[in-house]
Amino acid sequence: MEAQTFELKFKLNGKEVNALVDTRETLLDVIRDTFGLTGAKKGCDEAACGACSVLFNGHAVCSCTMLAAEAHGGSIVTVEGLSVNGEPASLQKAFMESDALQCGFCTSGQIIAAASLLDNADRELDDNEIREGMSGNVCRCGAYNKILHAVSETSRKRKAK
Ligand code: FES
Ligand code: FES
Repeated sequence: MEAQTFELKFKLNGKEVNALVDTRETLLDVIRDTFGLTGAKKGCDEAACGACSVLFNGHAVCSCTMLAAEAHGGSIVTVEGLSVNGEPASLQKAFMESDALQCGFCTSGQIIAAASLLDNADRELDDNEIREGMSGNVCRCGAYNKILHAVSETSRKRKAK
């Protein structure tokens, strides 16, 4: 099949960006290879592990199976875009404080999934709701209990504000 290009424009971590992309390129490849943001990882490459999660218009999506062209006109936030004035966001700090990782390969996807879950919740979430909400994100190191702790603490603190 002959390559077709597309002038992609979207907001990436709050900044308007554009790039000439192949219409068959995935969002993950464009984020990593064109824009050099390597937080989102390629794990399964078939929407089964969540390592490639990014926020698309405020909700977590698997960028490995989403075409970059589908992001046209939308807003994408990667784990790099969660920091505030160069400082890790409270959710990112909670992952560090809870020691919620081992190898770290799944971590950016876990944080994005948690951000989506918490940002779209109107109340503190219980552990089962967090487990359910993050069930699409696999951690092969089995750091689930500490990940749950990090997300639960963040949910509790947000509610307390
Ligand atoms: S790499 Fe996209 S879900 Fe696994
Ligand atoms: S920390 Fe290694 S896969 Fe989750």
